[in-house]
Amino acid sequence: MRLAWKVNLPSTLLMCAALLLLTFTGVSREEGLFDHEMRQDHAVLGAALAGALDDAWTRGGPEAAQALAGRLDAEHLGVRVRLVSAGASNLPAPAVEPVVGGDRVADGWRYTWVPLGDEAPGAAIELRESVAPAMAYLAATRLRMGVLLLTLLAATAALDAWVLDRTVFRPIRRMVAHARRVAAGNLTSRAGLTAVDEIGDLGAELDRMAEALQGTANRLTEEAALRHRVTDQLRHAERLASIGRLAAGIAHELGTPLNVVMAHGHRLERWEVAGEAEARSSGRTVAQQAARMAGIVRQLLDFARPGQLVRARTDLVDLTGQAASLLSTKARHAGVALEVHGAGAACVDARQIEQAVLNLVSNAIDATPAGGEVRVAVAEDPDGASIEVADTGSGIAAEHVAHLFEPFFTTKEVGRGTGLGLSVSYGIVREHGGRIEVDTDPGHGSTFRIVLPTSPT
Ligand SMILES: Nc1ncnc2c1ncn2[C@@H]1O[C@H](COP(=O)(O)OP(=O)(O)OP(=O)(O)O)[C@@H](O)[C@H]1O
Ligand SMILES: [Mg+2]
Repeated sequence: MRLAWKVNLPSTLLMCAALLLLTFTGVSREEGLFDHEMRQDHAVLGAALAGALDDAWTRGGPEAAQALAGRLDAEHLGVRVRLVSAGASNLPAPAVEPVVGGDRVADGWRYTWVPLGDEAPGAAIELRESVAPAMAYLAATRLRMGVLLLTLLAATAALDAWVLDRTVFRPIRRMVAHARRVAAGNLTSRAGLTAVDEIGDLGAELDRMAEALQGTANRLTEEAALRHRVTDQLRHAERLASIGRLAAGIAHELGTPLNVVMAHGHRLERWEVAGEAEARSSGRTVAQQAARMAGIVRQLLDFARPGQLVRARTDLVDLTGQAASLLSTKARHAGVALEVHGAGAACVDARQIEQAVLNLVSNAIDATPAGGEVRVAVAEDPDGASIEVADTGSGIAAEHVAHLFEPFFTTKEVGRGTGLGLSVSYGIVREHGGRIEVDTDPGHGSTFRIVLPTSPT
């Protein structure tokens, strides 16, 4: 009702002031009328009595006049009559100081003095009438008007409040509730105002706004669903492409040794060999190619399922030092400096993590031209341990980065790389609950970082 007070108060106060003014002027006018009528009555009565008393004075002297005045007073009709004298004669003095030839109101009475004729110098009739009944009437009128005024005010305020509540506050409350529902996400909410006025217009606008919001929200939901579908399709396509690359890689890597094995098998079957020595040589070739294929298959298995981890707290500097010494000959041949530094330990399967580090260091040496260097740094902090392999080699082209860990992804020429090293390393590190990060700067070098959690997962 705060707004109701703000709307109601000024008009109510104004009406109150106007009604008070009207009442006050009305009662004052009535008071004046009363007084005027009383004066006229006194004037008429005084003139009539003055003639009679003059007569009595002339015929019987002051005593006769006074006796007549006494009788007239006894007969009084609400007006008291007395003979008074301001001076010489032994008549009583006027009740209050008279106004010569006039009248006066004092102490709740109206006095009128009418002088007698020349026969009775200084004598006058004093008429006295109470103004109390008129005053009482006026007081009652004032009271009546006051009560009426208050009743009118109360009724007006109540009516205003009722009308305002129905036409303004109730619709506003509905709109507030509606706005809250919309803010809470219920976009089907409507204010539903039917009034044909400004408030109704506002309600209709709010409803239109909620409708527009609902339309936008529906559109957004549809677009999100569409995006979802497209992303799913893309992921599916990427998966298919990966599988395609994997299949092509397997076919390519196994195809050559298989052909060699088949050719030698046929030669032996048909005994197209020159003698035992050649037969043995063919058999050796078959065994070597089969071993190569078995190696590829083992690596593939390592990638898919690195096998049961045998974890133990391991000094990572010893582990990486071991890997570095296995590759020291390769590094020397390539003219690449290889060094290990730092400190740290982790609870890992040493054989498998060493395999992962071997793959990273081997790649780093492959990528680094003679005169460059490969640095292996071990570190440990409360969050875990890391092994960083940084080289000053070729770096990796941006379009290759996303495919580095895919099986059979290689940029090396046939026979120099199968593209399984990084995918195997990835499988091993993932199995340890860790991750491999890559930073590369094409033309300047790359850094591969194995991050292992402290507590084994
Ligand atoms: N340090 C590096 N610098 C530049 N390129 C790298 C580096 N490490 C890996 N690569 C790129 O990633 C490819 C994939 O590496 P990955 O070890 O999986 O296979 P690979 O070395 O080609 O063959 P494999 O390791 O099976 O003998 C590499 O062919 C090479 O192009
Ligand atoms: Mg490799």
